[in-house]
Amino acid sequence: MAWSDHPERLFDEAAACVTARGVGRPDLAIILGSGLGPLADEIADPVVIPFADIPGFPVGAVSGHRKALVFGGLEGRKVLVYAGRSHAYEGGDAAVMKVPLGLLTRLGSPPLLATNAAGSVNLGMKPGDVVSISDHISLGGPNPLIGDSDERRFVPMADAYSPTLRARLRVAASSIGLALDEGVYMWWSGPSFETPAEIRLSQRVGADLVGMSTVPEVIMARRLGLMVAGLSIVTNYGTGMQVIAPNHMETKHVADTAAPRLKALVRAFVKEMAHA
Ligand code: HPA
Repeated sequence: MAWSDHPERLFDEAAACVTARGVGRPDLAIILGSGLGPLADEIADPVVIPFADIPGFPVGAVSGHRKALVFGGLEGRKVLVYAGRSHAYEGGDAAVMKVPLGLLTRLGSPPLLATNAAGSVNLGMKPGDVVSISDHISLGGPNPLIGDSDERRFVPMADAYSPTLRARLRVAASSIGLALDEGVYMWWSGPSFETPAEIRLSQRVGADLVGMSTVPEVIMARRLGLMVAGLSIVTNYGTGMQVIAPNHMETKHVADTAAPRLKALVRAFVKEMAHA
């Protein structure tokens, strides 16, 4: 389902489905990446809707992802969590998350926090660290807006990762004593991991992190007018920088162990938003 399929009606249909099941207007939307699904368990009085029940939603199956929308309370605010995402590499469609993102425009266009597990190509960002994404590099796959014929396709990407939200993340991190670096995330389409030469390239062009997600979503979210922030959990160093080649088991395991820090940061961030 490329962008060109006139998405507005699909967004309306998804909205009709979820609002009929009790989903209201969130103050924040969060996409949870590999191994980060347990954050959804923190939501109070949740409405849980499997993606398979929502028209237009992708139902890919990457292990470590749950594939459900969870709506409910966190720190006294309303949040909508996508526990699991679909990736461009699953079926070759970079616009695969179009309807989940478009749905948000029908629910008041909350800010979007995209999370992921990522490799680090910067020795200063270690496995287990949480990093706020300051910018991205997209050379690894097609632009999700190819096929969009609306003038809004020419999306400015300066400050794609909102300086306001990033500042709130910094305040939230310091309120819980968490060191939070900022870094540039480079998208490689996957699902194969990068080669050592690709990791060296990533370092030379100014990336700090590499990963297989998030970038297409952020481009679409900006097209849809959403404010965006991104958080990576570093699960490994890039291929060639560590003895054992990066692999999916390691990604899930390290993301699991770092998930409590991410949870604490998200809670503090939600509290911080309440003050803003
Ligand atoms: N490369 C790409 N994606 C990833 C990695 C990596 O090293 N680690 C976790 N996701």
